[in-house]
Amino acid sequence: MLVAPSILSADFGYLARDVEAICEGGCDFVHVDVMDGHFVPNLTIGPVVVDAVARVATKPLDIHLMVQNNSFFVDLFAPLAPEFISFHIEEEKHPHRLIQKIRSLGIRPAVVLNPHTPPEAIEFLLEDIDMVLLMSVNPGFGGQKFISSVIEKAKRLKKLILQKNPACLIEVDGGVNDENVKLLEEAGVDVVVAGSFVYGHPEGIKEAIASLR
Ligand code: DX5
Ligand code: ZN
Repeated sequence: MLVAPSILSADFGYLARDVEAICEGGCDFVHVDVMDGHFVPNLTIGPVVVDAVARVATKPLDIHLMVQNNSFFVDLFAPLAPEFISFHIEEEKHPHRLIQKIRSLGIRPAVVLNPHTPPEAIEFLLEDIDMVLLMSVNPGFGGQKFISSVIEKAKRLKKLILQKNPACLIEVDGGVNDENVKLLEEAGVDVVVAGSFVYGHPEGIKEAIASLR
């Protein structure tokens, strides 16, 4: 299992320290939650702060956009050369066009599905993307309870991926811990995002990442 800790649960007064901790703790990606106060009822960080994150991170960035006007935000973050930029399908009229744009910038495109959105909604995009992110909470906040219907959704998505684009990864985000990660692994999930579990683990960040892996 690949592990992408979410820096939303870091101490933003010590952000460089907390980014270094997950990189040294063996994470695979640094998950960055970008919220605009419109698509979700919370506001987080823009390119100025994410640039500071990129300068200390020794692992690739996985940027999760929770915004209106995705194309504008892609332009803002593309200069930081993240590995992935993911956008919500619920907030994009022209997803295929935006995927081409992200790819043309040398970034791997990914699409995010809210808890209610069926995997079939992106069936005809799968050939063009490198990852699907399934939300297992309602986007906007860390520390929420895992919505277990994501397990069945991941299994259905995995079947579609095997038909259309077997290289496409499945990532799950929200409420992930060392219990539900086993069910996610069985369902075919490749990457887990975890914020509060990693940063709040009583035995430390390295132990938390190892237990998810
Ligand atoms: C929620 C974010 C998540 C969140 C995960 O909108 O997309 O990445 O930070 O945090 P936990 O693991 O605490 O649910
Ligand atoms: Zn996220």
